[in-house]
Amino acid sequence: MTVRVLQFGVTGQLARELLAQAKDFDVEITALSRADADFANPQAVVQRVRDAKADLVVLAAAYTAVDLAETERDLAFKVNAETPAAVAAALGPDGPPLVQVSTDYVFDGAKGSPYVETDAPAPLNVYGASKLEGERAILAAHPRSLILRTSWVVSSHGKNFVKTMLRLAGESKPLKVVADQFGRPTSARDLARFILGQAERLAKAPAGDAAFGVHHFANAGEVSWKGFAEGIFDIALGAGAPVVGAAATADWPAPAQRPLRGTLDTGKLERTYGVTLRPWREALAEIVRELQSEQRSAA
Ligand SMILES: NC(=O)c1ccc[n+]([C@@H]2O[C@H](COP(=O)([O-])OP(=O)(O)OC[C@H]3O[C@@H](n4cnc5c(N)ncnc54)[C@H](OP(=O)(O)O)[C@@H]3O)[C@@H](O)[C@H]2O)c1
Repeated sequence: MTVRVLQFGVTGQLARELLAQAKDFDVEITALSRADADFANPQAVVQRVRDAKADLVVLAAAYTAVDLAETERDLAFKVNAETPAAVAAALGPDGPPLVQVSTDYVFDGAKGSPYVETDAPAPLNVYGASKLEGERAILAAHPRSLILRTSWVVSSHGKNFVKTMLRLAGESKPLKVVADQFGRPTSARDLARFILGQAERLAKAPAGDAAFGVHHFANAGEVSWKGFAEGIFDIALGAGAPVVGAAATADWPAPAQRPLRGTLDTGKLERTYGVTLRPWREALAEIVRELQSEQRSAA
């Protein structure tokens, strides 16, 4: 069965990987950009959903500016909660399933061990609160919805930590990275391949199937941002890797507060779907190799 996927988002990390990886799966993706369907305008997006003939709808569009959300609360809630809820309602209980991507920032990070799906969320910032409201509204409106909470998403595209670190390493200035925030990095490609690989199962699954509901998705292994930076430099620069100093979250005040340990436990997803999520270092090596080969071809 060729699964017809209606994808919202074209330019983001996940959106680009969904489009790039589609060739390996039996899917046919129609992807709509912000110009086609602006999530600041729920009615416009709902119209697109009604017009489409899809077996699966994937939301890869989101308001992701964590610090800016503190001053753009209304827009963050519209894009991350109101419009996704309107899409879920438009699909209705009998419509095609919906995949929404959410975040570890729904948690406050104070648990002291990795979060499972049944742990009580308590977002520390507007972005996390907007994503949580989106999760709840979607699940209430559409029983065939899969919410994939993920964390520290990286890829060779867009703006992300890997690219920032490699740029900073090139500037040869002393480098300090936050050492007291822990989480699980996630390759946008791995997440995209998971979604595409499950498209047929999701399209066929009835309401109540274990495939739906909230599941956590992240590459294996917990690390601090400092440890992650060291991993990036080790893979990219080997013996030439710069020394990374430790910074504390408190030394770098930002508008949005972040969880100190929002680490996700992915056991439920691995059991339900029968998959094993590979170590973040392995996924990172793939991204670094890609960035280096892009650099070589640009030189
Ligand atoms: N990045 C992370 O570390 C992280 C961590 C946890 C969870 N997540 C979640 O993972 C998902 C994918 O994240 P990502 O890293 O791929 O995000 P991203 O690279 O920031 O991309 C966001 C996408 O959303 C689109 N978008 C933003 N505002 C829009 C609007 N008003 N209408 C329509 N489209 C709009 C952007 O389009 P434009 O190019 O037009 O702006 C872009 O295509 C999101 O749901 C995010 O909340 C991300």
